Amino acid sequence: MNATQTITLTINGKVCEGRAGQTILEVATANDIYIPTLCWMKDRSPWGGCRMCIVEVAGSPKVVPACATPAVAGSQITTNSPRLHNLRRMTLELLFSERNHICPICPMNKGDCGLQHQAYLHGVDSIRFPYLYPALPMDVSGRYFGLDHNRCILCTRCVRTCDEIEGVHTLDIANRGERNLIVVDMHATFGTSETCTSCGACVAACPTGALFDKAQTYRGKLHTCTVVKTTCPECPVGCGLAVYTRENRIVEVFGDPESPLCAGHLCRKGRYETWAEPRRRITQPMLRHNGELKPVSWDEALAHIRRVRDATPVWESVLLASPRLTNEAGQAIHRVADKLDRVGVWLAPNEGALVEAPEPLADVRRQLTEADAFILLGVQPSRDHGLIASYVRRGVRQRQARLIILNCRRSDLDRYADIAVREVSLERAFWAQVAEVLRDVQRPVLLYGTEAMTPIGVAVLERLLAVFEQKASGEAPALIGLPIGTNSIGLVAAGLEAVEDVGSWLDAKPVRYLHLVLGDDHTLGERWFEEKYRALMLETLDLLVVQASYESPLTAHAHVVLPACTWAEKTGTVTNFEGRTLPLKPVIPVRGQARDDAAIVEAVYA
Ligand code: SF4
Ligand code: SF4
Ligand code: SF4
Ligand code: FES
Repeated sequence: MNATQTITLTINGKVCEGRAGQTILEVATANDIYIPTLCWMKDRSPWGGCRMCIVEVAGSPKVVPACATPAVAGSQITTNSPRLHNLRRMTLELLFSERNHICPICPMNKGDCGLQHQAYLHGVDSIRFPYLYPALPMDVSGRYFGLDHNRCILCTRCVRTCDEIEGVHTLDIANRGERNLIVVDMHATFGTSETCTSCGACVAACPTGALFDKAQTYRGKLHTCTVVKTTCPECPVGCGLAVYTRENRIVEVFGDPESPLCAGHLCRKGRYETWAEPRRRITQPMLRHNGELKPVSWDEALAHIRRVRDATPVWESVLLASPRLTNEAGQAIHRVADKLDRVGVWLAPNEGALVEAPEPLADVRRQLTEADAFILLGVQPSRDHGLIASYVRRGVRQRQARLIILNCRRSDLDRYADIAVREVSLERAFWAQVAEVLRDVQRPVLLYGTEAMTPIGVAVLERLLAVFEQKASGEAPALIGLPIGTNSIGLVAAGLEAVEDVGSWLDAKPVRYLHLVLGDDHTLGERWFEEKYRALMLETLDLLVVQASYESPLTAHAHVVLPACTWAEKTGTVTNFEGRTLPLKPVIPVRGQARDDAAIVEAVYA
């Protein structure tokens, strides 16, 4: 059977076209015919467990699940007879009677619950079966989400999502019959799980209130929210976000299904760290007076900076930026660079060579989804590029792709690897082993990071490429470089100096004026305050200006603090690891007196 072959069948008397290999549900959906579903989910394997999608096929006495039954050319399907309605209604009543679905105290009540929605559609106003009312536990040990077994309908959407999308298979079903229970690592909790990455994809997949986000609970109904699509600010992969907001605050963050690389999936950072972490926001300019930071107006803060600068004209004045800033902020900094002695962007060690004029990458999604081998060199996707780690896990677990990990720190990916070596030996025997693992590989992908830019990393890369040159068949590896900073590529392209060793950079000449443009970087504020910088900041600087969205030990010691917008309030662009320019759009109004980073830089050096 050819999957591109067109087939014709009749659904509810309408002649419908589909492709060979599609299910009845897929053909019906493509022809605008609605069939109720609960356990089915796009891009997951069909399970056929809930029986809400049952349909009648002419000539067959049995009803069949449309989500798991192939469409047959010439068949006649009925999706909405009284018999089907009654069977579906009975299914719903059984689901409601099995556990404690007390809707008024569920965060999904009134509009967000797939089960309740079907109950409304099928007129379930009473239950004919006795309620079992088991006393099932809740697992609220996870940082971002919880699981209330009482609301679980055992649809396995979470199990299949965890297995097939995040690629870890943390979840499964234990026991039999009415004792069925979703389990985490067989006998762990979310808080103690050694495999769960906290990506939250299972929560996004759950049709009921069983899996729920703690931060979202009772913030607002999703169907009453405004949805804005923007770009994840947490790493250079640049996944698309669909941000749900209500009454000027974020209610929930999902992956954008139309985003080419993530296709709706996010890692923990994108889904939760963007908004669900408690952080203390800076909403107005502050000036140090008699040793204490006091709120002032923008005019006062800017005038103070100018006054001190004018009083000390022969300074070594320096501006250092976070790699999270937008391209537009980078360009603004570049435009005022002649008013300062040096301007730079703080990169990770060895990141400069990775981000200086990289070749744009094409076809990355296809390469990642078709690879039959992944070689990781000096890169840490589980920590730094969560979405890429999910592609690697999927490849290994679903396509039996080979996995070789060289010069990377320990991570969950080690457990899937054919070879995982912390420090690579250049000995012949080791490379013979590598060649053996890669012998039959046809479509390899080589993911490399900052540690591949060291002399030993380059030597390993050369050996690897030599292994591929000597192979009898197969493509050369697709080379995919993964920087660390969200917009390191864009900011270096905007003309900012790549600074990998901040200590040496600052020590090169005694700095008296330091302007740190942190934006909404919530980690640099802490990292900056390491001991070696602390002495500089507190003892030798005449003026420390910190431009930031969040309080940190650094802002606490600044002479002037300027409030910056967060990613959720900004307009601008970032350049991701493929070289694509991606938009940041404001999803909530600017808080207090915060301003965009580019506008602040322009005002300070006007
Ligand atoms: S959060 Fe992600 S890794 Fe953890 S159980 Fe859910 S889908 Fe699996
Ligand atoms: S927790 Fe949610 S997604 Fe998982 S089986 Fe239960 S109802 Fe389905
Ligand atoms: S992989 Fe990167 S861009 Fe994608 S969700 Fe995670 S942190 Fe955000
Ligand atoms: S949606 Fe088809 S059986 Fe559940």
